Amino acid sequence: MSSEGEVRRALGAIVLPAFGRCVSSLNLIRAVRLSDSGVELQMAAVAMNEPEQHALKTRIVKELKKLPGIDKVELTFVPGRPSELNEISHVVAVMSGKGGVGKSLVSGLIAIGLKRKGYSVGILDADITGPSIPRMFGLTQKPSACAEGLFPVLSASGIAVMSVNLLLGNEGDAVIWRGPLIGKAIKQFWEEVFWGKLDYLIVDLPPGTADAPLTVIQSLPLNGIVIVSTPQELASMIVRKAISMAQQAHSRILGVVENMSYLYLGDIDRKIAVFGPSRGAELARDAGAPLLAQIPIDPNLAALCDSGHIEDCQLDAVKKLALVADLLEK
Ligand SMILES: Nc1ncnc2c1ncn2[C@@H]1O[C@H](COP(=O)(O)OP(=O)(O)OP(=O)(O)O)[C@@H](O)[C@H]1O
Ligand SMILES: [Mg+2]
Repeated sequence: MSSEGEVRRALGAIVLPAFGRCVSSLNLIRAVRLSDSGVELQMAAVAMNEPEQHALKTRIVKELKKLPGIDKVELTFVPGRPSELNEISHVVAVMSGKGGVGKSLVSGLIAIGLKRKGYSVGILDADITGPSIPRMFGLTQKPSACAEGLFPVLSASGIAVMSVNLLLGNEGDAVIWRGPLIGKAIKQFWEEVFWGKLDYLIVDLPPGTADAPLTVIQSLPLNGIVIVSTPQELASMIVRKAISMAQQAHSRILGVVENMSYLYLGDIDRKIAVFGPSRGAELARDAGAPLLAQIPIDPNLAALCDSGHIEDCQLDAVKKLALVADLLEK
């Protein structure tokens, strides 16, 4: 006789071609009951019409009957909403005081680092008016949708991404919404997207300390915040405002990332501090959190971002950023 675990494993591995994701990653299994001669199952039928349900049922019955002691399979489909199906273990937001310091880059690299460690990862692009995640990952596909919600688009390495840019007709279209609408869109990306089972959801925040980052900090169940800055920005008070906003909201600052720390000239083996001397360690001390990584100015990295191949990045920083996983376990 097979165990419930074996049934869940066999069932979970079945891939739904429409989404390129398996049953377990979408968290569709609602109930498994074993009897003497077989198994009774309940499964959420999201975005499946009757013929699709029928085809899936045929595959499931065939797969499960391969297991010892399973002669009979009873499968019923039940409705499923994202709020019932999503199981997200950790939510990490990436924040900075001002724009253009590399938040989206760092969000992307954290996600890539965690994915390389074998975790299931998603990115919620909360920068509604200036979304840049899809471009870095080379994503242009429209998300699938059903009455209950939207399905994230998967990157080449399998990171689930949702961004307003994926919903626009044209990547260059402008979103000219005001604060309340932006806040609503961010909440919808949390509540009405089928993220399924994720170990980590990385939230790429819009720049600054205004409405939109505040909405995220106040309305999403954040486990931690990563602060991104450049040596140039460190000289100003802006990044300290971001830190103080996180502290006031009682959000845990997991670490600080100094981007554009230096330019490395390989030919003469020299580091040039283009934006002045590093103050990352000082900032990390003020934030009461570790300095996770110092990312150099790297023309190759800029080219990977522009061409949609950020997942090919081999910088050391990717491994270092994945340390957020260890910090969250503490
Ligand atoms: N270390 C780096 N080396 C080379 N290019 C970089 C580096 N960091 C960022 N860039 C480039 O700078 C641009 C801005 O980076 P990014 O989009 O990550 O910033 P941001 O803080 O998210 O900006 P915004 O505030 O507009 O959301 C990108 O085009 C990226 O390719
Ligand atoms: Mg950005």
